[in-house]
Amino acid sequence: MINNFIKNITRKKSQELIRKSRLNRCLTAFDLTLLGIGCIIGTGIFVLTGIAAANLAGPAVILSFVISGIACTFAALSYAELSSSIGGSGSAYGYAYVTFGELVAWIIGWILILEYGMSIAAVANGWSGYFNNALHSIGISIPSFLTKSISNGGLINLPASLIILAIMGLLIFGVKETVKFNTIMVLIKLIAIFTFIAVAIFNVDITNWNPFFPYGWFSKNPDGSTIGVLAGASIVFFAYVGFDAVSTAGDEAINPQKDLPKGIIYSLIFCTIIYIIVAGLLTGVVNYSELNTSSPVAYALLKIGFKGASALVATGVISGLTTVILVLFYALTRILYAISQDKLIPESLSVVSPKTKTPVKIIFITGIIISLVAGFIPLGKLAEIVNIGTLAAFIFVCFGVLKVRKVEKEVHKNSYQNKWHPLIPVMGIITCGSLIFFLPTDTWLRFMIWNLIGLVVYFAYGYRKSLLNR
Ligand code: ALA
Repeated sequence: MINNFIKNITRKKSQELIRKSRLNRCLTAFDLTLLGIGCIIGTGIFVLTGIAAANLAGPAVILSFVISGIACTFAALSYAELSSSIGGSGSAYGYAYVTFGELVAWIIGWILILEYGMSIAAVANGWSGYFNNALHSIGISIPSFLTKSISNGGLINLPASLIILAIMGLLIFGVKETVKFNTIMVLIKLIAIFTFIAVAIFNVDITNWNPFFPYGWFSKNPDGSTIGVLAGASIVFFAYVGFDAVSTAGDEAINPQKDLPKGIIYSLIFCTIIYIIVAGLLTGVVNYSELNTSSPVAYALLKIGFKGASALVATGVISGLTTVILVLFYALTRILYAISQDKLIPESLSVVSPKTKTPVKIIFITGIIISLVAGFIPLGKLAEIVNIGTLAAFIFVCFGVLKVRKVEKEVHKNSYQNKWHPLIPVMGIITCGSLIFFLPTDTWLRFMIWNLIGLVVYFAYGYRKSLLNR
């Protein structure tokens, strides 16, 4: 009976999604790959690599990237499979709706709201730091009370709030315009990264790779925190967050069945290769113990005497972080759009502007809320919650593949399939499940509290008003 129920929902939903996209179908596989790269390469590689190398893994941070990359590859292949068989703009939320029903879907949707909302605000805070430095270097200074939140001794982090409002305007303007802007910014950040690679490759001192495993694979500090390559992997995982955002473009892709899997997999492969090369060069150019800085890539270039280093990397980082904010914001609005279409939040929110073909209300409301969060709340440790939310979503997606393969052969028949390796979702569950295990206990606690709030919201509103319940 449950299987029939899922079959009916799956069929109805797929047909509905194929016929009724009111958004603008204009994105090619190339656009989707650039969206992925736009969203993936950011704080993770520009900041976290150095911190993870210095504090957790040493030069073996290269292996941390490999391990996280492998876990993400299994998850990405599972996303690819579901994005082509189920589609829609809801990403993991939409897939859970079809495979596990409304309640699990709501929980996943609620987790995704946290993941994306927190990431956007956190990355905007990082963006603000680099932006202030860049202004400072050309002789312009913003008063300090306008660059820090109250708890950090200021009033508001204005640049962080304003970048979110600016991107909100761009997203309202239209998806094709958003993609054009994203392409230019992605190119700038890639130029910065390739310049680093070209310079660093001739300045590697292999003695810096010795010892390669200063913290081993896995051990515990006296305070109970974990260190080693595996702990490093669970932190640099943040660098991969974002490939899943490509799957939220399901209703705007010209040929979603073929192009979504391509966009997801190509962008992930590209970024994994870049990360491994950059991590290797970074730890080869300077000793890992010196990399605990807020801009390790710039630091390494300065150390080897590359004069234009700061300016170049600052430009690359500012562009890079802008695209991360842009694509994560885009993804969040499309997930909310899907949730409101299912009436788990008011349907009136998902109204699409006939002129720009974008869900204007959702973009506007989320933009205002996140700009306030970014301006007034110092995010610090909360960024870790992004990883736990993402890993949880990945695990659900892998379970979803197993379920769809079993109960919905018809819809699944023409999809991009991982038939050549039926174990992919199982490997995804094992690898992502292991990474979640290495995250700190307080992160787990916050995550549980967020989910409890989500359940209260569901039973107070969604359960009574939802499309399924009617
Ligand atoms: N992967 C994105 C970054 O590293 C979220 O900033």
